[in-house]
This record gives sequence, structure tokens and C-alpha cells, in this order.
Amino acid sequence: MNYVSINGIQSPLYRRTPRVQNIAETAVPSVGTAENCSTYLLPTLASKASSTPNLTLLDVGAGSGTITASLAKYMPAGHITAIDISPEILLSAASHASSVGVANITFQTESVYSLPFPDSTFDIVHAHQILCHLDSPVEALTELLRVTKPDGGVVAVRETDMLL
Ligand SMILES: C[S@@+](CC[C@H](N)C(=O)[O-])C[C@H]1O[C@@H](n2cnc3c(N)ncnc32)[C@H](O)[C@@H]1O
Repeated sequence: MNYVSINGIQSPLYRRTPRVQNIAETAVPSVGTAENCSTYLLPTLASKASSTPNLTLLDVGAGSGTITASLAKYMPAGHITAIDISPEILLSAASHASSVGVANITFQTESVYSLPFPDSTFDIVHAHQILCHLDSPVEALTELLRVTKPDGGVVAVRETDMLL
């Protein structure tokens, strides 16, 4: 378990914000998993995986893919599409998935602003700590909604408040 240290952060914003003290005392796991980053989604994921044989999940901004591979274990009969704008990090994500024995993920280099999927494609769309890095998060969120099935589809987003 690692702990966030704010001592080295030089930003005046961080220095003047009292809430930063709370961050400094918060334990942050060193490797993101479904269990420690997307806990809120797990009951829904388990329920949908049992009721929907070919469940589809899109993970946007999948990064190193540790959360993605972890999510995949909850839907062994389903399929995850993991996209990221960085082809390099997706190579690492694919390598991680392979190393933990997960085979139901397709990795694609794409931008969240322009997803190459038809409307209403996915049962679940998952985003973790990507929108907070974007210039136009609402534009990205609109795109996530577009590719999510309207009937029973879920958009699952967990983001940091970068203005702390
Ligand atoms: C902080 S990382 C989060 C990775 C992963 N979701 C996690 O929580 O472990 C943000 C990721 O978003 C990706 N990203 C940034 N802009 C993007 C865009 N326009 N479209 C797709 N991915 C993007 C970055 O390459 C990076 O891998």
C-alpha cells in the first residue's frame, strides 16, 4: 500500500487548499483493480453478467489495463473492448491481461472523443480517471452515452476532482 504524499507538490493551489490534508492521509492502492477502483460497479456487473450471456463492456482510457483485466474476471462469458489514445500503454495493458490469464479483452487505440462504434453498442461503459484529464469532458461523456445501450445500459464513471 502506498500513500499519497503532497509534500513535494509545489502547486500554490495544493498548498492553500485545506482539503489536501485529507488526501495526504488517504491510502491509495499501488495497482488499480476492479475491487479497489470500481467497487461501486461490481454488484451491477455481477448481476448483468449472470443475466446477459454476451455482456459487452467498453473501458475508455484503460491505461495500463489492470482495472480492465480485473473487470474481465467478473464477466468471463462476456467481452471487454479497451481503448486508449496511447498505443504504447495498450501494449503494456495487453501484456498484463495475458500475464493474468485474461483473454476476453480487445485492445484498440482510439480517442474517447470519437469512438468507432455504432450508437447503442455496449451494455456497460466504464471510465476511471480519464475525464478529469480532458479539455472537454462533457464532449467525451456525450460520446460514452452515445455508444451505451439505451435500455438498461450503464455508464460507470469515477473521477477525481482536479480542483481540490
Ligand atoms: C490516469 S490514466 C487512467 C488509466 C486507467 N483508467 C486507470 O484508472 O488505471 C488516463 C488514461 O487516459 C488516456 N487518455 C487520455 N486522453 C485520452 C483520449 N482522448 N482518448 C482515450 N484515452 C485517453 C491516457 O493515455 C491514460 O492512459
